[in-house]
Amino acid sequence: MQTILVANPKGGSGKTTLATNIAGWLAGKRQRVGLFDADPQGSSSQWLARRPALFPPVAGFAGDARRREIRDVGPEWLVVDSPAGLHGDDLREAVKRADAMVVPVSPSAFDMDATERFLEVVGELKAVRAGGVAIALVAMRVDARTRSAAELETFLGQFDLPLVAHLRDTQVYVYCARDGYSVFDLPRSRAEQDQEQWRPLTRWIARHAAVRNP
Ligand SMILES: Nc1ncnc2c1ncn2[C@@H]1O[C@H](COP(=O)(O)OP(=O)(O)OP(=O)(O)O)[C@@H](O)[C@H]1O
Ligand SMILES: [Mg+2]
Repeated sequence: MQTILVANPKGGSGKTTLATNIAGWLAGKRQRVGLFDADPQGSSSQWLARRPALFPPVAGFAGDARRREIRDVGPEWLVVDSPAGLHGDDLREAVKRADAMVVPVSPSAFDMDATERFLEVVGELKAVRAGGVAIALVAMRVDARTRSAAELETFLGQFDLPLVAHLRDTQVYVYCARDGYSVFDLPRSRAEQDQEQWRPLTRWIARHAAVRNP
């Protein structure tokens, strides 16, 4: 099982948006995927409850799910949506169990400050130093051509981690959250630009998994 942790301690940075869309992408690829909701707010569980029954299935796991329960369902992928404020032992454990970690970052000074501290802490974790966890950054709610995107890129450049995708600010994500969809469940005519923007991230995830499962 490949575990993908989505984490950033800043509230509202885009964790649930990334986690639900990654789960939706994998489900659409006919992969057995579980969505582990480690956030007591339960946003990704609520998304899953709203997901139309005929859509490619995603198995939901609550934050208190035992490992055995997950093993019994047997997903090939586990996408972990983490809570705001993740730190200390909880962060260390979550990173230790992950094969890959995706960090959403928005181009606001508050988000960048929080992310800077977070990435410093993450970089010191044993699992990361040992090279066991691949980490990707995703610029959220940005237009790649704007000055704020350039500022975000300069900021993220200091971390020696790949910035793999830019996702624009669009109501498409708001509607997807409301309806239990991912952008991959939408017809191409409605989400072509967003599906394109996701491509480097899905490719990164697929390549990473291929490296681990030769
Ligand atoms: N690219 C985007 N364009 C427009 N809206 C977005 C985008 N990404 C996220 N949002 C919206 O921003 C809000 C916060 O995003 P999200 O819930 O994914 O953040 P979060 O990090 O999970 O928050 P929390 O820390 O509270 O769990 C949501 O309403 C979501 O629909
Ligand atoms: Mg969330």
